Amino acid sequence: MATIYYTGCSLDGFIATEDHSLDWLTSRDIDDEGPMAYPAFSQRVGACAMGANTWQWILDHDDDPWGPKPTWVLTHRAFAPSPQVRFTSAGVREVHAEMTEVAAGKDVWVVGGGELVGAFHDAGLLDEVWIQYAPCTLGGGAPVLPRSIELRLEEVARNRDFACVRHTVVR
Ligand SMILES: NC(=O)c1ccc[n+]([C@@H]2O[C@H](COP(=O)([O-])OP(=O)(O)OC[C@H]3O[C@@H](n4cnc5c(N)ncnc54)[C@H](OP(=O)(O)O)[C@@H]3O)[C@@H](O)[C@H]2O)c1
Repeated sequence: MATIYYTGCSLDGFIATEDHSLDWLTSRDIDDEGPMAYPAFSQRVGACAMGANTWQWILDHDDDPWGPKPTWVLTHRAFAPSPQVRFTSAGVREVHAEMTEVAAGKDVWVVGGGELVGAFHDAGLLDEVWIQYAPCTLGGGAPVLPRSIELRLEEVARNRDFACVRHTVVR
């Protein structure tokens, strides 16, 4: 079981524009059967965590907001209830302990944003960082991971439009 940050990113280190657009990412070509693609990654995941803006993006852009995976949304806001989603403002250690138990040996996916991933790292809970780099820069937006973290490069692959890299966190 590993705790993984898996995300798409611009070349200059942003996961969304200032106004939370992902058009620059979702418009790209990727082979769903190719290296580091989402379908195979998703099979490994037993629990997800994300912040309020990421959840709001899903609500705004997806008719069937989220798959059947147990998900923790860290927030102080009052969102409408959603199946399999727990809304919490608990600390990341407590949240991670709950996620690990529910994941039952599968991986934990910290979806983002970057500051939440940083909080998991601060608590010593982040194991891997997988990034698909899209061939563009954004010039600003939501930062991918606003921390100083030493990583070991484990895997590099091209998947159509994307440069895909997998790292482990050096402890
Ligand atoms: N490129 C990709 O693959 C990818 C992946 C993930 C996300 N995204 C996008 O990137 C953007 C991320 O937005 P963001 O950087 O603002 O991050 P975010 O984590 O989605 O949202 C941040 C907000 O979540 C709440 N929150 C976060 N951590 C919390 C904690 N520990 N306890 C309680 N509340 C907490 C806070 O809002 P409240 O206090 O108001 O609740 C905080 O302002 C979104 O647009 C998302 O759609 C892109």
